[in-house]
Amino acid sequence: MKLHGLLASLTLVVVAAVGLPACTSGEPADDGDPVAGKRLFTSEGCAGCHAFTAASSTSDVGPDLDAVGADPNRVMAQLRKPGGLMPSYATKLSEKQRTDLAAFVGASAESGKPVVAPFSPDDKRLADCGDGDTECFEQSFGNLVFNDGPKPALDLLQRMLATNTTVASDCHRITHRMGSAALKRFDDDVAQAFIAGSPVCWSGYYHGIVERAFLGQPDDKLAVVARQLCSDQRINSQRFLAYQCIHGLGHGLMIYTGYDLPGSLKTCDGLRSGFDRVSCSGGAFMENFTSSYGVTSKYLRKDDPIYPCNRVAQRHKLYCYLLVTSNILRLEGYDLQKTADACPRSEPAWVSTCYESFGRDVSGMAGNDATKALENCRLAKRHESDCLYGVARDVVSSDAGGARGGRFCARAPKPHREHCFEGVGSVLGSIETTSEALRERCREVSGRHARGCLRGAGLEPAQT
Ligand code: HEC
Repeated sequence: MKLHGLLASLTLVVVAAVGLPACTSGEPADDGDPVAGKRLFTSEGCAGCHAFTAASSTSDVGPDLDAVGADPNRVMAQLRKPGGLMPSYATKLSEKQRTDLAAFVGASAESGKPVVAPFSPDDKRLADCGDGDTECFEQSFGNLVFNDGPKPALDLLQRMLATNTTVASDCHRITHRMGSAALKRFDDDVAQAFIAGSPVCWSGYYHGIVERAFLGQPDDKLAVVARQLCSDQRINSQRFLAYQCIHGLGHGLMIYTGYDLPGSLKTCDGLRSGFDRVSCSGGAFMENFTSSYGVTSKYLRKDDPIYPCNRVAQRHKLYCYLLVTSNILRLEGYDLQKTADACPRSEPAWVSTCYESFGRDVSGMAGNDATKALENCRLAKRHESDCLYGVARDVVSSDAGGARGGRFCARAPKPHREHCFEGVGSVLGSIETTSEALRERCREVSGRHARGCLRGAGLEPAQT
């Protein structure tokens, strides 16, 4: 913000503080819908007076709402009875609308602000970093990338995962910083940084490149930048890198916009192909549910584990529901039974998808232990089959091949086996490039169940 703007809002904050009603005990506003609140913020003219990063507004007639950091109750009080300079919204808006606005404006202070800074190298080294000093590890690994290149630095990190608990527990954050450092090393050449990297620690390195590539871009340019970022031939020629780049865009957009989920999804919607739109929105939802930066997104609700999937536009529901149990799991303290029991709270048409998401989490937690994954899918009861399908998809995607998924499905209980193989086929269908290769692969990994696999891959008519 410019200096005069800052001074003006400081003055107004003082005025506001004096004029503010003492009442903060009104009914709690935490059941508001921030998605609706964001729309109201623009349509009701709040953006015309207030700077607020989460709404991309920079006006300085009223106080800077980032600086004020009002909680929901304070926003409610202000809307009912403003200090005198701001128009009253006591009758202009319904109680529900005020509550939605309060949920948007009053969300925790850290949500709604960009959390990335450009990387600047210094002379900090790994040997300087003590236990728990994440910032030191982030910077030192960044320095290594900047000086020696990503490859040796990522290899070292991979080795240290087994020996250093700070590195292991904060590795996703550390790799974010490494991606940012790589972009600096390669003079902002995104493709070169991508090619030099690796997906260690849930692809944090790729996310770091992308989020850093947005820095300094005005919000109305994000869509253009997003479209260009991954279109380089060197990235596009490798399906795996193309996916990482576009999926990373979704994460990067969220981080860069301060967890603006509606805005990020809108940018994803502007991408070229269906594959791009879907990979990007998946990244945005994932970042919303499990933030790389420990930020609690305002597009989450403690009392509604299904939110925001039950509120987003129809075209975004699939990719929201496919990840929804990551959110439920966290809210339920990583208790799988409780997580499975929460899926029926989804909208009826999406209950099965929720259990498929559950399968993905079961697979992630079981790792290579197929017996454990089979056992945990039983927690889904009537939806065991959806869970197994989710496990199969997760295994095949993370292997980028069908062998292990095929072995897993062969062990699934008989009534669910066919559907499990459909899961295998659905992912193989996006890996193999010709239908001959796909048929061949399905026969190879699923033997007698090849039809299930082919049906999943879209090569056989669906069962009715
Ligand atoms: C015409 C300009 C204008 C508009 C429109 C406006 N405000 Fe304000 N707002 C102000 C001014 C000036 C103040 C400080 C003095 C006051 O309270 O009247 C203020 C104060 C606030 C505060 C209190 C800040 C603090 O210090 O606690 C909040 C919260 C707030 N506004 C939110 C909103 C929301 C939400 C909307 C839209 C529904 C909105 N404002 C619309 C000008 C405006």
